[in-house]
Amino acid sequence: MEDKVISIADRRTQATYELPLHKGALRAMDLRQIKTGPDDFGLMTYDPAFMNTASCESAITFIDGDRGILRYRGYPIEQLAEKCTFLEVAYLVLFGELPTSAELADWVDQITHHTMLHETTKKFLEGFRYDAHPMGMFISTVAALSTVYPGARNVHDAEARKLQIYRLIGKVPTIAAYTYRHSRGFPYVYPDNDLSYPENFMNMLWKMAEPKYQAHPHLAKALDVLFILHADHEQNCSANVMRAVGSSLADPFVCTAAAAAALSGPLHGGANEEVLKMIDEIGSKDRVPAYVESVKAGHGKLMGFGHRIYKNYDPRARIIKWAADRVFEVTGGNPKLEIALELERIALQDEYFVKRKLYPNVDFYSGIMYQAMGFKPEMFTVLFAIPRTVGWLAQWQEMLADPEQKIARPRQIYTGHEARDFVPIEKRGVKAAPPTR
Ligand code: ACO
Repeated sequence: MEDKVISIADRRTQATYELPLHKGALRAMDLRQIKTGPDDFGLMTYDPAFMNTASCESAITFIDGDRGILRYRGYPIEQLAEKCTFLEVAYLVLFGELPTSAELADWVDQITHHTMLHETTKKFLEGFRYDAHPMGMFISTVAALSTVYPGARNVHDAEARKLQIYRLIGKVPTIAAYTYRHSRGFPYVYPDNDLSYPENFMNMLWKMAEPKYQAHPHLAKALDVLFILHADHEQNCSANVMRAVGSSLADPFVCTAAAAAALSGPLHGGANEEVLKMIDEIGSKDRVPAYVESVKAGHGKLMGFGHRIYKNYDPRARIIKWAADRVFEVTGGNPKLEIALELERIALQDEYFVKRKLYPNVDFYSGIMYQAMGFKPEMFTVLFAIPRTVGWLAQWQEMLADPEQKIARPRQIYTGHEARDFVPIEKRGVKAAPPTR
């Protein structure tokens, strides 16, 4: 019992408290009883950016950042990437177990039959400017699905939730492909139900006048593997947004759009686009050492390096390197890979990066591989959002089923003015004194 309780001595009051640990963690609400008097609100924790706060219990994804381990529902990512299809992994992530053959057949059939967009959604996409960023179009169009499916608001109905899950996983590749076709001025291609999930995506992206699109099997497999690697990553920035917005009982389409907006930032899923920009800026292998020195001197960051959780090689980066080799066998080498490999080699030996435990993350090689496949850098984060939709939905379902969860609403430490009297406009010339605390 003793090791499950923590004692806190409050030197302000000389009181001591015995606080139980919950699965090894201290419940922040238990600190509330630590007061200096009846008017005291009680002790709060202060944790900007959630550096040391668990916001939920979760059974979906396990990461050991120090040892470079990633597992979905207990299965190592390496085994899943080698032996499964993305939709099989999606089922596992969402429902907790690998599907039987019958369950998988039904699941694939459901997803396949929810890939089409309503014609009004197609028209909605047509309204974007020719040079709109694909991620902006993706976020807005996913949000707009909420207007097409008002039943999605019924978030406490498990069957209704399942239907929106089919729709979202089915439609995100279609939306993603249409953002690309829109930016190229090409007509939209309807889904082809004969094709697998990645093949159909490639069909909607690249089919031109040929009667049937044939994806190269190595490229389709590489894309499927990339989708598996990106399916979930526990409580990252966008998953946290999905849960926070979902906690207000907003429908899953707007929640997913909000999560995708979080993903679009350059410190999160937007990093893969930034890696390519960085490699272009470096330009050639011989300029890598000078670039690394400029990063160390404080001029920007090495994009695709570092991670809040991984303080070791990101296991996904290792698998991506394997998938990239398969892609390059088909597409021929990419000169950017040489620069990336040199960057990695130099950074991994450099005291600055070693000391801070900065290793390549999932975004470091994915962009180079995507570019070799024919994607423009603006599409990279959209490619990330397709599989991550699975993780967001799994996190959302888990949050809704958790009796401990409520509307997400952090507290703050107020640092503004004390109460002060209104100043009429004609008397506002003199600046008020800045707050003293
Ligand atoms: N290049 C150079 N220095 C870095 C980098 C980097 N990529 N990342 C972190 N550092 C340095 C910081 O400057 C800091 O140094 P200091 O201790 O001297 O101040 C130290 O390493 C710790 O970094 P923090 O920013 O405190 O680490 P945090 O956990 O907050 O950030 C993050 C993680 C945002 C991923 C950061 O490493 C980064 O910005 N990387 C580049 C962007 C990137 O690749 N993002 C993709 C992440 S993976 C994903 O979201 C899918």
